[in-house]
Amino acid sequence: MVRAIGLLLLLAHALVLVISIEAAAPVRRPRCDAGDRAALLAVKAAFNNASYFQSWTPDIACCHWYGVDCGGDDYDYDPTDGDRVLSLAIIRDDNVTGAIPGDAIARLTRLQGLTFFKVPGVTGPIPAALATLTALRELTISRTALSGSIPSFIGDKFTALQSLDLSFNSLIGAIPASLAKPPKLNSIDLSRNQLTGSIPRLLLSKAGQQAFLTLSHNNLSGSIPAAFGAVNFVQIDLSRNQLTGDASMLFGSGKKELGSVYLSRNALSFDMSELRLPEQLSFLDVSHNAIRGGIPAQVANLSNLQLLNVSYNRMCGEIPAGGNMARFDAYCFQHNKCLCGAPLAACH
Ligand SMILES: *[C@@H]1O[C@H](CO)[C@@H](O)[C@H](O)[C@H]1NC(C)=O
Ligand SMILES: *[C@@H]1O[C@H](CO)[C@@H](O)[C@H](O)[C@H]1NC(C)=O
Ligand SMILES: *[C@@H]1O[C@H](CO)[C@@H](O)[C@H](O)[C@H]1NC(C)=O
Ligand SMILES: *[C@@H]1O[C@H](CO)[C@@H](O)[C@H](O)[C@H]1NC(C)=O
Ligand SMILES: *[C@@H]1O[C@H](CO)[C@@H](O)[C@H](O)[C@H]1NC(C)=O
Repeated sequence: MVRAIGLLLLLAHALVLVISIEAAAPVRRPRCDAGDRAALLAVKAAFNNASYFQSWTPDIACCHWYGVDCGGDDYDYDPTDGDRVLSLAIIRDDNVTGAIPGDAIARLTRLQGLTFFKVPGVTGPIPAALATLTALRELTISRTALSGSIPSFIGDKFTALQSLDLSFNSLIGAIPASLAKPPKLNSIDLSRNQLTGSIPRLLLSKAGQQAFLTLSHNNLSGSIPAAFGAVNFVQIDLSRNQLTGDASMLFGSGKKELGSVYLSRNALSFDMSELRLPEQLSFLDVSHNAIRGGIPAQVANLSNLQLLNVSYNRMCGEIPAGGNMARFDAYCFQHNKCLCGAPLAACH
């Protein structure tokens, strides 16, 4: 009896505690906008009700469906907006197959994030219907079987876009010049496609503080835009294309945040002797090009430098010694015109 009363008191106490917590900080559980729910069910049906969408059932509010988000720290949440879907992510699933259901996704009009990642069964082009998703900030369609070209509406219509990742697909054609337009776009990854043509002249010219650009493993030609000299890159990877001409605009002591530069396997030709490499540079791979001149003495002073590869170029002169140079083996310098000194043979 005494125990029973004790238990009852404990329960009552717990109840009061729960009620007071609820009162102090009412947790708002987003439920579901009816139009968004209908649009999501159309997405599910378009993908043949694949098991990825198991939780997408009427007894669960659509904001809690797997891969669906109506709020959270990553997105601007407007409480007057109702429970609108702000992001949709379909990630790592082999059973989701078919074309991207553009009409259905376009009905999620508040969408800020759209992700297809490692869904190799997703095929076809980027649907034109997506052009109405003007609130998009992050668009990722990566490691799918996406084909066709990159539509220019991505740059023309997605004025809030910050990050674009279309890597590891089968995209063809040129990079649309419109991708230079979104004022907040600072991260672009189009690597591992079959893109051709030249790099748009003003790409990332509005990027502000930190820019990331990955265009490696494509078939891009022409020269690196001179305007890249004014872009504050943190990382740039243009390797494995057919780019020609100068790359020296990427460097300079003013490039305070530049950490990684990957330019290998292109046809770049410029004189490296006069380059001023930024202090915090960590990765520099310019192998397999037609670069001339010598290695700037200053590389020995770059304390963060973890990778230096100038092999397979037309460079000459003595490899700088001291500092951190012992980190780099002969393979980093091999196949040049007349580079000499450790770790290669001594200079005469
Ligand atoms: C998917 O599920 C809906 C609702 O249960 C059903 O009407 C539709 O026929 C299903 N489609 C496929 C391809 O299984
Ligand atoms: C894909 O489908 C197969 C066969 O229906 C199933 O065994 C497997 O668990 C599914 N994979 C995922 C990620 O749902
Ligand atoms: C890239 O260009 C080269 C030379 O122009 C060509 O031989 C090759 O087939 C192209 N590759 C792709 C994937 O388009
Ligand atoms: C390397 O650093 C030392 C010490 O700060 C400095 O005296 C020297 O001029 C630097 N060398 C180059 C090539 O920047
Ligand atoms: C430098 O590039 C050459 C040629 O591609 C390669 O053989 C070597 O392994 C590379 N070294 C490093 C450290 O990346």
